[in-house]
Amino acid sequence: MTIKCTNKVALIGTGFVGSSYAFALLNQGIAHELVMIDLNKEKADGDARDLNHGLAFASPMKISAGDYRDCRDADLVVITAGANQAPGETRLDLVEKNVKIFKNIVDSVMESGFNGIFLVATNPVDILTYATWKFSGMPKERVIGSGTILDTARLRYLVGQHFDIDTRNIHAYIMGEHGDTEFPVWSHTTVGASQLNELIDMDKENVQKDLDDIFVNVRDAAYHIIERKGATYYGIAMGLARITKAIFNNENSILTVSALLEGEYQEQDMYIGVPAIINRDGIRKVVELPLNEKEKAQFSHSAQTLKNVMKKALE
Ligand code: 2OP
Repeated sequence: MTIKCTNKVALIGTGFVGSSYAFALLNQGIAHELVMIDLNKEKADGDARDLNHGLAFASPMKISAGDYRDCRDADLVVITAGANQAPGETRLDLVEKNVKIFKNIVDSVMESGFNGIFLVATNPVDILTYATWKFSGMPKERVIGSGTILDTARLRYLVGQHFDIDTRNIHAYIMGEHGDTEFPVWSHTTVGASQLNELIDMDKENVQKDLDDIFVNVRDAAYHIIERKGATYYGIAMGLARITKAIFNNENSILTVSALLEGEYQEQDMYIGVPAIINRDGIRKVVELPLNEKEKAQFSHSAQTLKNVMKKALE
């Protein structure tokens, strides 16, 4: 059977995150074509073969292992390649190694004639998304980082658990660095249609402690998982699949991704996790929430932390 390929993904990096993302794409029927590219060609080839054996149970999809030339007519290039955190390492500790790796990757993708959208997941994701934007020369809306999409999912899960309400009925955002300086936007959290502060007295000490505990669990979730199993991959893979779906289906969904700021939240010339409207063109618009004073200070601290690391890494 010939499949009309319109939604083509080229995936760079078929480690745990990349291969889990590929599995999510196949299971959810999100793309028509997937080309898997890895330095370890055997691994990419093995993954493509393995996934093809699932086609009897999924929607039609063309899956192969390939090389950078296959990015030429891709609609989306997803980068998950690079070093990942060892136990005890922060995401920012990876910056030097991964910026170097990214220069090669992005140059090779651009040499293919690629003219689609980049989606970056490698850490530190905000800095590597900025590097991808700089190295590629693509318009800002066509370079997206996974940002705090996963942290936001973790927050929604834990708030849902706290109230014993379906995660999907929780609207809440984690903003800032995908890393240690991220923060929860409690002032715009809703459970169903109710604002959080209508449901609970947020000034009460025990309530504040519960919320703090939830946030600390979100912020440190990756450390807890890495201690236990060496890496995190299912959650981020599903977050990447969610962004891919929003792009291919032209959804105009609001997702917390890493986007270039040009004055929004009083910051510019940097990528950082913010709510943004995602559609077939990539990032349609950064959503500017009216943050309270505490959240404004947290955003500014997170942005400054990223800028300090970014300046050193990219100079
Ligand atoms: C995560 O948050 C490690 O960034 C990865 O799961």
